[in-house]
Amino acid sequence: MDQNIESLREALKFSPDNIPLRLHLADALFNSNHLDEAETEYQSVLSKENNPRAKMGLAKIFYRNGAYSKCNVVLEELIEAGNVDFEVLLLNTKALVKEHAIADAMVIYKRALELNPGFTDEELDAQLRIATGPELEESLQEIESSFVQKPTIDFKDVGGMDAIKKEIDLKIIQPLKHPEIYQAYGKKIGGGILLYGPPGCGKTYLAKATAGQVNAKFISVSLNDILDMWIGSSEKNLHEVFEVARQNTPCVLFFDEIDALGASRSDMKQSAGRHLINQFLMELDSLENDNEGLLILGATNTPWHLDAAFRRPGRFDRIIFVPPPDTSARALIFKLKLAEKPVEAIDYAILSKKSKDYSGADIEAVIDIAIESKLEEAILQGVPKPLTTKELQTAMKKHKPTTNEWFSSAKNFALYANQSGLYDEILDYLNIKK
Ligand SMILES: Nc1ncnc2c1ncn2[C@@H]1O[C@H](COP(=O)(O)OP(=O)(O)OP(=O)(O)O)[C@@H](O)[C@H]1O
Ligand SMILES: [Mg+2]
Repeated sequence: MDQNIESLREALKFSPDNIPLRLHLADALFNSNHLDEAETEYQSVLSKENNPRAKMGLAKIFYRNGAYSKCNVVLEELIEAGNVDFEVLLLNTKALVKEHAIADAMVIYKRALELNPGFTDEELDAQLRIATGPELEESLQEIESSFVQKPTIDFKDVGGMDAIKKEIDLKIIQPLKHPEIYQAYGKKIGGGILLYGPPGCGKTYLAKATAGQVNAKFISVSLNDILDMWIGSSEKNLHEVFEVARQNTPCVLFFDEIDALGASRSDMKQSAGRHLINQFLMELDSLENDNEGLLILGATNTPWHLDAAFRRPGRFDRIIFVPPPDTSARALIFKLKLAEKPVEAIDYAILSKKSKDYSGADIEAVIDIAIESKLEEAILQGVPKPLTTKELQTAMKKHKPTTNEWFSSAKNFALYANQSGLYDEILDYLNIKK
């Protein structure tokens, strides 16, 4: 052991209560990598008094030993007691990153940078730095150009779903238009709507139409995109998506495939998923105070995989089942999708009757198939001939409905995991007695 350490030990024998001297020894031990002995000395100081320098020493040892959670506990104590210096905040940031608590790390790192604006660290900056100035502009612009749309459809382009449209209107559109009326009745504004149901039945389409309905912009993000493309900095990017939405109000912010978050917990992205969930919930909660002009919608095929935390008040506190279109909605969808195509007088009653269990997407596929065979004919004869009811019926034989499969698994959740009647609508749809 080096000379310096030996002589410090000697000196301490004569004045064991000399705290500065003991800290000096502890630091020297730490610097020469005698972590266990250094810890003993710091603890010995702490047994005599609450000493910030000794605590910081301990935190550094815990960090070096990979005991990140213990390290954070000590640092949080320091911060709470008012020892908010750069070194403390920086170590706290690093230990939080090690624990994958990215959202928290971002907050602490921001405070650290306020104390030391010139500081840079390639790794931390890439993951945590909330960009400012031109850098932020660039990053937000990138998100804006790839995500912000201006929809050209509205509610009248969506066939059926009258009750759902009404609910969206009352829950999120009217509060946006008349906040004062809601306030007058003490009705809280905020929170989002989660749409669920079988594939192809118009969840995404309806979300887009909602934006068109209020002449708002539309941002659609799939959580799978966030997880796949932005691994490592997904929390930061999620934050920026919310930021872009706030800058583009009025705006419908739509989270598609929101089940990706739930699903991710059981696969290898486990911890990444958990922290993204927390970041997501944090962003939703922060809207409560500042949601002016921002509507939140989400969609999923598997709501039962979604963390219950999502359904708390102020978050996705309304869950709506989007069933396959009923007979009259199917007639409407046929009409809507054939509106600009060359058709004969079509018998919509027959088509809608024969297309039970077809989703909106299935109906589109049927029309597509009918048109393809018509195209061949038109090219041969040199003139476009109008489409007939018969041809659409033939096409229906080539494309079978795709919604049944979803119900066979949904039924089990509705029967056996139907907490507080959450999935009663599925049972109703299937005519199963509750
Ligand atoms: N009620 C409807 N009215 C008009 N078009 C519809 C309707 N339902 C579905 N469609 C058509 O079907 C297509 C697919 O619907 P959409 O993508 O919204 O389904 P989804 O419920 O989001 O499916 P998934 O669960 O697979 O994401 C839409 O682009 C739209 O053209
Ligand atoms: Mg969809």
